[in-house]
Amino acid sequence: MTSSADRVMIFDTTLRDGEQAPGCSMTQAEKLRVAKALAELGVDVIEAGFPAASPGDWESVNAVAREVQGPIICGLARATRDDIEKVARAVAPAARRRIHVFLATSAIHRQYKLNMAKDEIIRSAVEGVKMARDLCEDVEFSPEDASRTELEFLAQVVEAVIDAGATTVNIPDTVGYTVPHEFAELFRYLRKNVRNIDRARLSVHCHDDLGMAVANSLMAVVAGARQIECTINGIGERAGNCSLEEVVMALRTRETFFNAQTGINSQKLYPVSRLVSSITGMPIPRNKAIVGENAFAHESGIHQHGMLKNASTYEIMRPQDVGLTRSSLVLGKHSGRHALRERIKELGFELGDAEFARVFEEFKALADKKKELFDGDIEALVLRSEGADSGPWSLAELTTSSSPAGGQATVTLRHADGSVIERSASGDGPVDAAFKSIEAATGLRPVLRKFELRSLSEGEDAQGEAIVYVDFNQRSYRGSSVTTDIVESATRAFLEVINRIELSRKAA
Ligand code: KIV
Ligand code: ZN
Repeated sequence: MTSSADRVMIFDTTLRDGEQAPGCSMTQAEKLRVAKALAELGVDVIEAGFPAASPGDWESVNAVAREVQGPIICGLARATRDDIEKVARAVAPAARRRIHVFLATSAIHRQYKLNMAKDEIIRSAVEGVKMARDLCEDVEFSPEDASRTELEFLAQVVEAVIDAGATTVNIPDTVGYTVPHEFAELFRYLRKNVRNIDRARLSVHCHDDLGMAVANSLMAVVAGARQIECTINGIGERAGNCSLEEVVMALRTRETFFNAQTGINSQKLYPVSRLVSSITGMPIPRNKAIVGENAFAHESGIHQHGMLKNASTYEIMRPQDVGLTRSSLVLGKHSGRHALRERIKELGFELGDAEFARVFEEFKALADKKKELFDGDIEALVLRSEGADSGPWSLAELTTSSSPAGGQATVTLRHADGSVIERSASGDGPVDAAFKSIEAATGLRPVLRKFELRSLSEGEDAQGEAIVYVDFNQRSYRGSSVTTDIVESATRAFLEVINRIELSRKAA
């Protein structure tokens, strides 16, 4: 059966706008892992980064362009020759590529940020788009802070960049200021007043400062937008961006209302959401729509009664439609490869043979320490990063002790250059002492901002995840680790932070 619904493109910017969220920076290996998962999810465009921001960003965009097949690979550029050429070179290996040029247009940005008059803005935007079109067939232009730009001027800019060759025009609500009806009116205004509007795809890009990013994006679709820019779990600057999983499931659940469809494989939403949360250390609130732990949980007796009679009484989507397949099946040390592979598949992950071999080995080691392995344990094994690109230091040995007077720790670290270094320290407790020993061994002293511990599964022998947040040289870093011993988890998480600092110093 063919559908008459219009196709809306999903432009994922988790690796660019999402990564701009404080503490969400990712290593190149992590970005590649997310990009491959996004390709499997079926996004149309991956905005892989902002190549002019740093050599490390350029490398990451280039690696995604080389290694990820399927979606269009895009990079962001200011309207300058240097930025645009950097994007063109970074995305060159991709089979399908896009250059995304942006320039602010609102009076506030023109006056305070750019110090440019309206005619200069139009000239720069047109020059930027022409430069990009000389290097790439597919060019997107964004008038930054469009929602606070004078309507007539915005229409002039849009018309000029389409004449210059922009194939997509994206309308950002950069500061999350607009409201659904007003934003729909803006799109209608552009469709009515821009002479050449049919020659470009209209796109929407919303931030969530007032909690309306998804609603504003949906109203833009009602008013003619045919591309939505969004991020997994809604991560992004300040309050974040439009959440991919929410906007996609709204379009899918209310398809007859919106008369629009995406190419997203919705059963991959839950695993991709867990992957991004685990890599960025941004926890998913329990009550978050679509992917939160409580999104499909029914507590009240009346609701449970209704659900038992017919799930549609209280559920508008089925958990399996978003890839949530919880099972009461428990694995243990006698479970074989086949059982583990099946469970991993049911949880929505696809692993290559080498990756599965690593997970199976770690599964066996964990099953020796822990009688029963639940879904949370299996997920943690799959999501654990694979060591590639993980920085120079590894933990060879850790001994700790504690008494009411405080804690002591001795750590032995191995460096990638072959050296081994042992340091001891005392602290308020064993975790503090272990952190101090690592600082003494590596010579790096980041400022600890936050330290979180949580249990990933059930029982007294549950695995504990430690997440450490620090500041170093005006940047935020995060590290996490999962083991059955919380002091070891905390120590490994802190060492991951040190490794991330070393990696970003190398990439800068
Ligand atoms: O929010 C914004 O305006 C942006 C643009 C660069 C598209 O992220
Ligand atoms: Zn943005």
